[in-house]
Amino acid sequence: MTSHLDHDYLRQALEHDVIAGLTATPKWLPPKWFYDAAGSELFSRITRLPEYYPTRRELAILRARAADLAAVSGADTLVELGSGTSEKTVLLLDALSAAGTLRGYTPVDVDAVTLEAAARRLAERYPGLAVRAVCADFERHLALLPRYGRRMVAFLGGTIGNLEPAARAVFLKELRATLRPGDTFLLGADLVKDPRRLVAAYDDSAGVTAEFNRNVLRVIDRELDADFDPEAFEHVALYDERHDWIEMRLRATRAMRVWVGGLGLAVSFEAGEEMRTEISAKFRPERLLAELESAGFEVRRRYTDPADDFTLVLAAA
Ligand code: AVJ
Repeated sequence: MTSHLDHDYLRQALEHDVIAGLTATPKWLPPKWFYDAAGSELFSRITRLPEYYPTRRELAILRARAADLAAVSGADTLVELGSGTSEKTVLLLDALSAAGTLRGYTPVDVDAVTLEAAARRLAERYPGLAVRAVCADFERHLALLPRYGRRMVAFLGGTIGNLEPAARAVFLKELRATLRPGDTFLLGADLVKDPRRLVAAYDDSAGVTAEFNRNVLRVIDRELDADFDPEAFEHVALYDERHDWIEMRLRATRAMRVWVGGLGLAVSFEAGEEMRTEISAKFRPERLLAELESAGFEVRRRYTDPADDFTLVLAAA
């Protein structure tokens, strides 16, 4: 495994984000820090919730279209940004393998443990596959990804929705700049729909998303020696129709003073104060295609599921 994220790097990035977010008005924390081992497990429970449709919809599209994606892309190497547990990956790898082109797989993730496990599993499942795992942050290390082969870079699950529009434009331009002729980009994005369904998907009745949301406080308590009481914060999910995004927040149920020992930082919360922990942007298809085109991509295919809930776009560099 190649790593661009040693312990010091991660630590510094977390410190930087926590100082920036907790000293801002209103306070915020970036969603990246949800995903320690417990957070990754909570997210995988989210993907199986009845209210959380995106994962099932994307899988259905991939099942129906993987062969077409393999044929149109002509890819021999799959690079997967934010690969996580690589569940959807096998659909693409099977299709590339059936097309007779498959040679390499590069999972890219911030969590080294998840990454190693997925890399090992897939190396076993596809004998002869060149698996090159890269531990990296897709917002910072795009230029360092391995360049072997004719690549399809996949960014699935709707994770692009975590980026605000300006950061999204930068990400798409930087990704485009690292691709070469013949390479393609496969993007999964959640679509605008009835706000009630959107809110339900981020505020499930079993409370799994609430636990996932509070997990960021547990990560900060452990890594930065803070004394957040996660139970003193309520989960909030709302749909912002002006920005077309879901916003998750943590609301302080009482006034509190939190000490972040590792930073020597004291932070006060008023009763009812809300701190933003995630945005998850939802897309209108025409806008999404326009954003890809203005970043220099040429759209080759756009698919959706029968309910028009989620979309996959294949674009050429
Ligand atoms: C992993 C970023 C795609 O935005 O739907 C799920 C994360 N947050 N429930 C999403 C998430 C709350 C998820 N992504």
